[in-house]
Amino acid sequence: MNYWIDIMTLFPDTVGDLMNESILGRAQDRGYIRIETHQIRDYTTNKQNQVDDYPYGGGRGCVMQAQPLHDCWQHICESHGQRVHTIFLSPCGKVFTQADAKRLAADYDKLILVCGHYEGVDQRFIDACVDEEISLGDFVLTGGEIPAMAVADAVCRLVPGVLPDPECFENESHWDGLLEYPQYSRPEEWMGRRVPAILLSGDHARIARWRRKQSIIRTRLRRPDMYEKLTFQDTKQERKLLAEIEEELEETEHGSQT
Ligand SMILES: C[S@@+](CC[C@H](N)C(=O)[O-])C[C@H]1O[C@@H](n2cnc3c(N)ncnc32)[C@H](O)[C@@H]1O
Repeated sequence: MNYWIDIMTLFPDTVGDLMNESILGRAQDRGYIRIETHQIRDYTTNKQNQVDDYPYGGGRGCVMQAQPLHDCWQHICESHGQRVHTIFLSPCGKVFTQADAKRLAADYDKLILVCGHYEGVDQRFIDACVDEEISLGDFVLTGGEIPAMAVADAVCRLVPGVLPDPECFENESHWDGLLEYPQYSRPEEWMGRRVPAILLSGDHARIARWRRKQSIIRTRLRRPDMYEKLTFQDTKQERKLLAEIEEELEETEHGSQT
């Protein structure tokens, strides 16, 4: 087993179903990763299995109580015989990036992901048991399940054995600060739109150059914030490529103005 993720949630079946599908499901069958879901409600100590209560200080909605969360978390840590790095999915956390996925895949071999619900989680559980808070983005969802599945997916696909080859993720968007080039599959022509001729040429060096150029153009046009952070090698080939890009973009701009 290369990586083990425990997800604490009020919807273990829904989360489990998705995590057991497709690439991650096969990787679990083959023993590269394990994703286990845990029903927080099973750790309540009241007759109604209630996990939430009103917020101190007033306000709408309910807050998930610390006790069932803590007991569920403790049970998982005890089953591993160690305190496991614990992430609470929260809109108040640091926004998740590919760099975080790389870091979590490299620095740990086990994670606990805690999904909040309702108005959130009693701060004392977070203070006592959580190591970091991660947000999926600057918006609010009803629960932490989708963010937890996103984090588990992004981390697990970097675990050795899950994808057939590291090349599968190393050429993708956000790996090295670029967005991916456009992709095409069969047929060569679809609804009057042809695949760029270079991709049919069989000339691997020219194809690689074309793809890099498209990646740079796409990043510059769609994500100027990422483009600003790129560093280019000071080589003749790289300067030529950048000059070509400049020329193409100027032509496109000029064309769109006339
Ligand atoms: C309705 S939200 C609570 C929002 C909280 N009252 C606030 O204003 O920050 C319920 C739960 O969904 C999850 N959640 C919602 N949006 C999220 C996001 N952008 N990233 C990660 N988790 C999120 C968290 O686990 C959160 O505890």
